[in-house]
Amino acid sequence: MEIKEVYKNRRSVRKFKDTEIDEDIINELLFAANSAPCTDTCNYFFGVIRDSVVKHQIGEATIYANWVADAPVIFVCCSNIQFDLKNETAESYAMQGMTARYGKETVDFLIGTENRKSAKTLMQASPAYIAAQHIILSAVSMGFRGCLVDFINLEKINKILGLPDNITCELLVPIGYPDETPIPIKTNEKKNVFYDKWDK
Ligand SMILES: Cc1cc2nc3c(=O)[nH]c(=O)nc-3n(C[C@H](O)[C@H](O)[C@H](O)COP(=O)(O)O)c2cc1C
Repeated sequence: MEIKEVYKNRRSVRKFKDTEIDEDIINELLFAANSAPCTDTCNYFFGVIRDSVVKHQIGEATIYANWVADAPVIFVCCSNIQFDLKNETAESYAMQGMTARYGKETVDFLIGTENRKSAKTLMQASPAYIAAQHIILSAVSMGFRGCLVDFINLEKINKILGLPDNITCELLVPIGYPDETPIPIKTNEKKNVFYDKWDK
């Protein structure tokens, strides 16, 4: 499928046919996931969840997304949160970058908050999200559909999956053959854009 067709057909799907996904398709999706960019402080990991009991447990740990359990596979996109900004000097690249982005007050909060796991999960989520979108787009290109799901209880899911302390779930990507047909995205609308400056 042409990439533009992939974008047009990428709508969130939350109903799936009860059909297994072949191992070679799973491997294609993992290749897509692992080809996403990562940073020098954060890398990703992917769980491939096909066991019905585990899928239902994960579903129970979501906010209004129990339907994920009906997908033939749930990809659990995780971050390696070993790196902690708290241990960096003011001159470090990571500290300079985060301060440029958010300002000192917010950085001080993020490095000062006691719940290190939660702060690191928040700060290091981006690569897992980008990888998740790689999975979705690759899936669409092969006729599958899915949805990003991040209103979830991360600690519960970490526990269900037995993840070590330096790895955390960030979001879920349930994938399957679609059992609903959302309207494709139109390409002739120029929206959410500005040129050069906001008010030009
Ligand atoms: C970062 C992110 C998190 C999302 N989390 C959820 C979620 O927890 N549950 C859910 O049902 N949909 C979730 N979605 C899907 C959005 O609801 C959906 O993308 C949006 O309604 C637009 O519809 P479309 O994807 O069909 O274009 C999420 C989307 C994004 C981008």
